[in-house]
Amino acid sequence: MARNLVSWISVVPLLILLGVAVTTDPLTELENIAGKLVFYQMEGNATYVRDTGELASEVPTETMFELFDPQKNFSTAKFTYTWDLGNGEVIKGTEPVVRYHYSESGNYTLRLKVGVNVTKYTPPITGDYSMDVQVLDAIKHIELKGPSDYQVSQKTSLAFHVDGSPPMCVCWRFLPNCVPDMTEDCTLTMLYENTLRLNHTFTSTGFHCLEISVRNDISKLQTSFSLYVRRSNNTHMFFILSCAAILVATFTFIIVIACLPRHHNKLQIASSSNAVFWKNENTDDQSSILFNFTAGKAEKEPLLLHYGTQYTS
Ligand SMILES: *[C@@H]1O[C@H](CO)[C@@H](O)[C@H](O)[C@H]1NC(C)=O
Ligand SMILES: *[C@@H]1O[C@H](CO)[C@@H](O)[C@H](O)[C@H]1NC(C)=O
Ligand SMILES: *[C@@H]1O[C@H](CO)[C@@H](O)[C@H](O)[C@H]1NC(C)=O
Ligand SMILES: *[C@@H]1O[C@H](CO)[C@@H](O)[C@H](O)[C@H]1NC(C)=O
Ligand SMILES: *[C@@H]1O[C@H](CO)[C@@H](O)[C@H](O)[C@H]1NC(C)=O
Repeated sequence: MARNLVSWISVVPLLILLGVAVTTDPLTELENIAGKLVFYQMEGNATYVRDTGELASEVPTETMFELFDPQKNFSTAKFTYTWDLGNGEVIKGTEPVVRYHYSESGNYTLRLKVGVNVTKYTPPITGDYSMDVQVLDAIKHIELKGPSDYQVSQKTSLAFHVDGSPPMCVCWRFLPNCVPDMTEDCTLTMLYENTLRLNHTFTSTGFHCLEISVRNDISKLQTSFSLYVRRSNNTHMFFILSCAAILVATFTFIIVIACLPRHHNKLQIASSSNAVFWKNENTDDQSSILFNFTAGKAEKEPLLLHYGTQYTS
């Protein structure tokens, strides 16, 4: 995957508005310093080109000033770069690149002042560039907040805390008994806050898997939860009642057998079929969950990709 992302670098980077040099000497022919700002972010071995003005927080970032100088007017010039990151940090240097990271999400305006001394004797020319950047938190964790207990045939509302910057696109699906299902697509939901609520009715007991994929403009997280679904209290009641029914029937049978002549034996069948009837009540309601079309196919890459650990309830 990292290789895909690296190859993505070849995509044409963003052309920032061309800076206009302020010339202090009207005699100089060099009126403009043309160039663009290009943003890269590095995570692990992968490098991402950030050409939409969106950056991930806490990720090493590199901004490069690419000078447009086809006529080599500046080939012998000396450059100075003053980078104002917009978060209070100002970095000066003579290289057209700055390395930094934003530690907090938010909107920043990055400003670059380029100074060029064309010769030792001419006054410096300057160019000003700016770029609005939106810093987003990558999605790194999804935490199941509740409930801690799941019962079959009951409408369950699951709450999760998702830690990235919204808006986020969530796609989720339940796999009964954790059996992988290639035919079912996931249900797509937009999330505008950090709490995700999913409603589901489990149709059988045992372990069920919940697969969730969440993505925002700069990152993507895939995780799965394993949830144990137990028999519901209602079902329990039915079970108790059916046991009670069997006991009552059995006692009635014994009393009847003890008190009546032998040819009334057929009652036994009646009592056991009574018990069977109760057990049939026990069967789970058929409830259905609809899986809609997934938008996963049109995914925009590259995104910082994280895999959540598998959680068990
Ligand atoms: C570079 O110099 C040439 C003449 O030598 C001039 O015509 C041109 O405008 C200059 N380019 C810039 C970007 O100043
Ligand atoms: C980076 O690549 C090297 C070798 O190509 C590999 O050994 C290492 O595990 C990779 N690191 C990460 C974080 O992917
Ligand atoms: C450019 O020239 C100014 C004086 O005109 C000087 O102060 C500055 O150090 C020079 N910059 C470089 C990179 O040579
Ligand atoms: C940042 O700017 C975007 C639009 O560019 C806006 O939607 C968002 O609300 C802004 N965020 C903050 C924290 O101001
Ligand atoms: C889930 O149920 C709650 C009420 O229990 C409701 O507020 C919420 O909108 C439902 N969520 C979905 C995705 O249907």
